[in-house]
Amino acid sequence: MRYRIYGRTGLRVSTVSMGCNRLGDPGVDPAQWPPIVKRALALGINFFDTSNSYNQGRSEEVLGEVTSGHSEPVYISTKVGVPVMTNDFPNREFSEETIFREVVNSCERLRRRPIDLYMLHSPSVDQLEEMRFEEVASKLKAGGFVRFFGISTLDHASGIWAVNHGADILQIEYNLLDPTAEDELLPVAQRHDVGVMVRVPLARGLLTGKFPAGQPIPPEQQWRRPKGDQLQLRLSRVDQLRFLEREGQTLAQAALRFVLSHPGVHCVIPGARTVPQLEANAAAADGDLTAAELDRIRALHAQWRAEGVW
Ligand SMILES: NC(=O)c1ccc[n+]([C@@H]2O[C@H](COP(=O)([O-])OP(=O)(O)OC[C@H]3O[C@@H](n4cnc5c(N)ncnc54)[C@H](OP(=O)(O)O)[C@@H]3O)[C@@H](O)[C@H]2O)c1
Repeated sequence: MRYRIYGRTGLRVSTVSMGCNRLGDPGVDPAQWPPIVKRALALGINFFDTSNSYNQGRSEEVLGEVTSGHSEPVYISTKVGVPVMTNDFPNREFSEETIFREVVNSCERLRRRPIDLYMLHSPSVDQLEEMRFEEVASKLKAGGFVRFFGISTLDHASGIWAVNHGADILQIEYNLLDPTAEDELLPVAQRHDVGVMVRVPLARGLLTGKFPAGQPIPPEQQWRRPKGDQLQLRLSRVDQLRFLEREGQTLAQAALRFVLSHPGVHCVIPGARTVPQLEANAAAADGDLTAAELDRIRALHAQWRAEGVW
């Protein structure tokens, strides 16, 4: 495993960390989840991203149970704003009443206080402007609830807003199929030395190459994946990226290495539902894309930009 300093937080985090939105998935034996987190720790992963709304708090509970017994430092980011019991994303809200109630609940489930990294869960710019962002950040820190504060972005504009209003940390979307965070958001974050973690680095699994182009995704594997023309456009682009598969590198590992090749990125947080997925993702930390591979990727991105759709 390799490590990077997470911007101005100074925390030393594993470059390949773990996204935990599958922990506690319904209909799965709960005994499946703790071994994934334990294996992550054994592989040197020391940073986990969750939310109070992932599986009604079960993701936070699993993390709390496993990491509270670990002897080395482990860092956790969690989020607030999406209703916990319904996970009703369109109805997220960021009132101080909700934030200060939920941070206590997250501390309990995670069995830690302060929480290392605390984020608003994908607020729009309008929602950010309606709240007292900097004051909330100060109160959360002064109350000993959190160490660093920021947002998980809804779009690039929300990320830029947060950086310009003192966010310490960001969670952003950036991957081989959508590099547009390179244009403005990542440079702004770099200038402010904001800690940046990248979510959805595998484009919800599409970048593993396991879904054949020209076919729909079977209903039992649909999860949150695109459908119809949007899906087929992406799968055809995934096929154009298959030159990245070589000895010592799967397409998924190349996708993670691409994200980590940007100097403004500190870690990726691929989701894993099984131990073999986690192990394959963690192994991406041990290698880099070649200059020739990066050149071919940039040429494809230029072509896709010209097509005007991501
Ligand atoms: N708004 C937000 O704040 C927000 C939104 C989304 C995600 N996130 C965070 O970002 C993390 C990552 O995003 P994500 O999980 O949605 O997308 P992702 O990391 O791009 O894709 C993860 C999914 O791909 C499949 N997969 C992972 N590794 C694999 C491997 N090595 N081989 C084959 N399949 C593999 C798994 O699904 P299957 O096994 O079902 O194929 C897994 O659940 C989340 O866990 C969460 O922490 C935050």
